[in-house]
Order: sequence, then C-alpha cells, then structure tokens
Amino acid sequence: MEMPTKENAIASNRDAWNDSARHHKDTPEWQARLTDVGHGDFSCLDETLTELLEQVGVDGKDVVQLGCNNGRESLSLFALGACSVVGVDQSGAFLDQARELASRSPHAPEFIEADIHHLPHELQGRFDVALITIGVLNWMPDIGEFFRHVAQTLKPGGALVVYETHPFLEMFDPEAADPYRPESSYFRSEPFVQNQPIVYEGKVEQQSAASYWFVHTLGAIFTGAIGAGLQISHFKEYPHSNREELYDRYQQQTAQLPLCFSLMGVKRMARHGPPDKPVNQP
Ligand SMILES: C[S@@+](CC[C@H](N)C(=O)[O-])C[C@H]1O[C@@H](n2cnc3c(N)ncnc32)[C@H](O)[C@@H]1O
Repeated sequence: MEMPTKENAIASNRDAWNDSARHHKDTPEWQARLTDVGHGDFSCLDETLTELLEQVGVDGKDVVQLGCNNGRESLSLFALGACSVVGVDQSGAFLDQARELASRSPHAPEFIEADIHHLPHELQGRFDVALITIGVLNWMPDIGEFFRHVAQTLKPGGALVVYETHPFLEMFDPEAADPYRPESSYFRSEPFVQNQPIVYEGKVEQQSAASYWFVHTLGAIFTGAIGAGLQISHFKEYPHSNREELYDRYQQQTAQLPLCFSLMGVKRMARHGPPDKPVNQP
C-alpha cells in the first residue's frame, strides 16, 4: 500500500467525511435529534462523560469541542452550564447539520470549519475546557502534533478532556469468526484504509474518498499530551463500550478488555502575569 503524506491523509479524511454526511441524515436518529435539541436541557452525553465534565466544571466556562461532527455533543454542553461553546470540524457537510440542529435549539454555539492542524488564530488561548470525544484521535496521522494544536486553544490552567475508544480494540475485528482473536498489532504503524462512506452501523456499498484510521497506543497518547505541555491529572479505563454497536459484544465478559478511557490534561500556568483560576481536577 502506498502511504499518503500526512497532509493528503487529512485532506482525504475530510473528503470521506463530507461524502458520508448525507448517510447520517438518512436515519431515525437524525429525525429524533431535530426534535430533542429543541429542549434547553438536551444532552446526548453518556453518564461517564457527564460525570467527568461535572467534576471538571463546565458551568460558566468557555468550551471548545474539536472534531464536533454534527454538533450534538457541543449542544449538550449547554445542559452542563457552559457559557459559550465552539465546535470545530473540517467537514463542512457535517457542520451544515450542526447548524441545522443549532437552529432548532435555544442555545447559540459557534461552528467553525477548520482542520485541527490549521486552527484560526482567534481560537488560540481562548478556552477553559477543550473536549475530544469518541472517534477523533484515530483520524490524526501524528498524535503529538495533534495535541500541540489542541493545547494551543486552552488558556493557562485550562483542561483538555478526552473520552475515547480504547486502542486495545484496534487489535480485534468484531465481525471476524473469532472476534477475540487479535487480528492486528497493537503497535501497527500503517493506517486502516476504507474506500466506502463512514457510517456507524452496517456498510454503504458505494465508493467514497479514502479514509485513513491511525492506531495510537496509550503510550503515544500520553507522550503526545505531555509533550504538548499538558499535565495529566486524570486517566481511567472502563469496561463499557462507547463506540459502534458492533463493539457491544465485548462488554460484560469474565475476561474483560478495557473498552474506552477518559484522560484529562491541564495546561501549565503562565510563569508571569496574574494567576488564572484553574479548573477542578477530578
Ligand atoms: C467520529 S466523528 C466524532 C463524533 C462525535 N464524537 C459524536 O459522537 O458525535 C469524527 C469527526 O472528526 C472530524 N475530523 C477528522 N479529522 C479532522 C481534522 N483533521 N480536523 C478537524 N476535524 C476532523 C471528522 O470530520 C468527524 O466529523
């Protein structure tokens, strides 16, 4: 397989997500969402992420979600009291959906179309909390570089909160005859490539731009976050799945794999100037 450059992989991922967007509207979930977001206390965040964000303290804070997709999670942050919410994604087609949801909501998030590796200057040093959720880290060819860009959006003392799928799962294929047999290395360096639209359930038998899914070990994730000047203040692994339904089969096993994790890193305070009030640390 010929490896794309980092830039080409990121651009192709953008095209693949844009090619996929219409398939995500063609679902009963989308129709329900259009109604649900009309409630001021709408939230689609699960118990784990809700609890974590409550501990961190989003109330009255400026929050950015990077890789916000259709904005459902960004909108949910208002239910936790966020003062302002910015959602960033490089897929214009998904941001159209985010704006459609926002138009039905009593809240007013801002959605910005940008590649996380080229964030607009106005986002630098602006946020108390940056949020990364399910299914974002693996689109990034270089996890250290990714965290450096993410960290730049935070004020000193601000917190990055990550709630992601566990990298151990990348070793297994839930559709294989034996879904517990490791199929690929935990240390795999080449990305998984897909040429069909990206959907959360089943498959769409159509051609789309290639999408590149990169595997990052927990060690690479920690090293990347620390290298970006974040002080790790929380890390927890869980036995529940927060990804596609196919992965639910790995739950409630006697020999339980870790299925997802949460991580928090606090941006170091500036050495000079007035002290900033740090966010809480769970
Ligand atoms: C799996 S979705 C996130 C879903 C979200 N956690 C949710 O549950 O609604 C991943 C998102 O990351 C975005 N993305 C991937 N690479 C990106 C990049 N380089 N810059 C900005 N967004 C990116 C994709 O466009 C996509 O919308």
